[in-house]
Amino acid sequence: MSAALEIEGLSVAYARKGLALQDVNLSVPKGGIVALLGANGAGKTTLIRAVTGLLDLHHGAVTAGQIRFGGQSMLGVPAHKRVRLGMGQVPEGRLVFKHLSVEDNLRVGADILPRGQLHEGLEAVYTLFPRLRERRQQAAGWMSGGEQQMLALGRAMIGRPQLLLVDELSLGLAPLIVKDIYKQLRVIGETLGTTMLVVEQNARLALDFAESAYIIAGGRIAFSGTSAEIAASPAIQQSYLGGAAELPAGEEAAR
Ligand SMILES: Nc1ncnc2c1ncn2[C@@H]1O[C@H](COP(=O)(O)OP(=O)(O)OP(=O)(O)O)[C@@H](O)[C@H]1O
Ligand SMILES: [Mg+2]
Repeated sequence: MSAALEIEGLSVAYARKGLALQDVNLSVPKGGIVALLGANGAGKTTLIRAVTGLLDLHHGAVTAGQIRFGGQSMLGVPAHKRVRLGMGQVPEGRLVFKHLSVEDNLRVGADILPRGQLHEGLEAVYTLFPRLRERRQQAAGWMSGGEQQMLALGRAMIGRPQLLLVDELSLGLAPLIVKDIYKQLRVIGETLGTTMLVVEQNARLALDFAESAYIIAGGRIAFSGTSAEIAASPAIQQSYLGGAAELPAGEEAAR
């Protein structure tokens, strides 16, 4: 399989912090699902920002290395152009437009579609998330956290991205809602063949969902391997993931 996303020797610095990523190598095969795991402050969101081209908004910059998407270097390519090239993202903290209606939020995401395909795109999202259809005229800010996350995902997928970057989908949501949203994310992957890079604090969830994973610690890749390999290694989980992937049976049943 060829790579949809290829990151080589990537370093990133913020004006107020200095290096936040150092010599990161990561690759996501076409049609593959890869998880990016790590503790708070490890650099996960920074890596996503580097890929989407939003570092400068946060006073950060790539200081070394290369990012290729579909074989093309993304360095110097503005964020909106990367969207047109086929990148979609569900950003950390959802960031839906709270004063716009649900449908208008989706229209923003559909902006890159040819005009005739808006209706079809909306239908696809409403089929995946019937709750969004029910609330299509409601202001996004009035919806629950889970519904806003569905909207953020709908907004990202309506443009039919080749590569979907997802940052902390599960944060602050009830386990049942998280399960439902991940289920729909899998449907998206299966029906559209979307390549995904998924940042997740819940290692267990991520390892269930993704085929392989990278673990980032202190701005460097500490480990990479198949999900099965990581799930089977208590040592890796203890060192980097606080043992989070290894839930006792009772706790699993409570989810
Ligand atoms: N805009 C910024 N300016 C300066 N430093 C930043 C900025 N954004 C993030 N950092 C720092 O860069 C490092 C990596 O942060 P990042 O947000 O990428 O971590 P993360 O792995 O996404 O963490 P979390 O799980 O808490 O979301 C942290 O030390 C953080 O404090
Ligand atoms: Mg983050």
